[in-house]
Amino acid sequence: MRLDPAERGQPFPGEPPMPEKPSSLGWRARWRRWRNGLLASPRFQRWAADFPLTRRIARRRAAESFGLLTGFVYSQILLACVRLDLFAALADGPRSLGILAARCGLAPEAMERLLRAAISIRLVERAGEGLYALGAQGATLQGNPSLAAMIEHHALFYEDLVDPVALLKGEKRDTALKRFWAYAKAEDPAAVAPERAAAYSTLMAKTQGFIARDVLDAYDFARHRAVLDIGGGEGAFLSAVGAAHPSLSLNLFDLPAVAARAAERFAAAGLAARAETYGGDFFADALPHGADLATFVRVLHDHDDDAVSKLLRAAHTALGPGGRLLIAEPLAGTPGAESAGDGYFGLYLAAMGSGRARTFDELSMLLRSNGFSSIRLHATRQPLLVRVITARA
Ligand SMILES: C[S@@+](CC[C@H](N)C(=O)[O-])C[C@H]1O[C@@H](n2cnc3c(N)ncnc32)[C@H](O)[C@@H]1O
Repeated sequence: MRLDPAERGQPFPGEPPMPEKPSSLGWRARWRRWRNGLLASPRFQRWAADFPLTRRIARRRAAESFGLLTGFVYSQILLACVRLDLFAALADGPRSLGILAARCGLAPEAMERLLRAAISIRLVERAGEGLYALGAQGATLQGNPSLAAMIEHHALFYEDLVDPVALLKGEKRDTALKRFWAYAKAEDPAAVAPERAAAYSTLMAKTQGFIARDVLDAYDFARHRAVLDIGGGEGAFLSAVGAAHPSLSLNLFDLPAVAARAAERFAAAGLAARAETYGGDFFADALPHGADLATFVRVLHDHDDDAVSKLLRAAHTALGPGGRLLIAEPLAGTPGAESAGDGYFGLYLAAMGSGRARTFDELSMLLRSNGFSSIRLHATRQPLLVRVITARA
């Protein structure tokens, strides 16, 4: 039988040699070795589950482990609820099994199975004899079209995650998310067809609500005269900025098919007089000059480091000395939100085929090496969704 180097107690190629004796390890490594040995021991697990003082911790840990093993099931229960519009069916108050089954088009037994599953994750709760109501989690999701849109589009991501190792090894060339995000790895992004741009641009616009609110609260746009939103999508972010700051001039750069959608949105919102849209490829075409604030909202994490450097240099040139750059996106290494930046986005962007969530330090380094200074991280209400960095050109 072949053992891998770790099992033989030897380092992997290129790794520093493992210390000879445990005593030569630092205290942290010794403690970790001791803890992991203990947690892996079936005897200890049995003891901890029986002993009154550790019983609660042991049960909590077991539930956490079970959650890791089975998390994908809960996401699919949620998807079933969204597809059947169950939360809307409960929006006006508790309903009976029969009414819900008829409304969702399920047999009563299937409806009950789904309701029980939804109760187990607090999407639904019982409201007296034979009645069901929105649960705490279901109430949060109800009436929030952006979350429903996200959940629906996760069906694509789910397809790509079927073989996560193949995904990590880059063996899965044609992923569903690459097809969805038509510009990802496109030979000629500027030629992305309107109908392909429409699918992702609609999703982006739907999920922009929270982002724009948090960015506007984190940074004072009033100190600026003109803003250029680079990769601004169909203008949902700039429309919110424009509504909050009536004297700001608004400029948006995106692929031609997307910029055309933004122009329509600005016209519909009565912003056409102070909003300009530019269609092009931000890797190949010059960005318009004249703004004293440039923004990248959920754009840089889509691209690899070389591409990000190119974008930062282009923004620097467009701004000129003293101009301000604002980056808004979820960051890796966000305390308390590691599962979003490192977990979710880590794999999401692998499926998209380019980019990664970066830490503040990684983005700072890229900013500095492309001519920016005075780099600051601003507090946001929901760091899980978006963080804000500003820098001076
Ligand atoms: C993830 S979306 C973010 C959209 C918007 N900023 C938001 O937060 O809703 C990335 C945007 O970058 C645009 N984009 C991607 N590649 C581009 C390119 N080469 N030139 C111009 N825009 C591009 C896409 O069309 C898309 O609108």
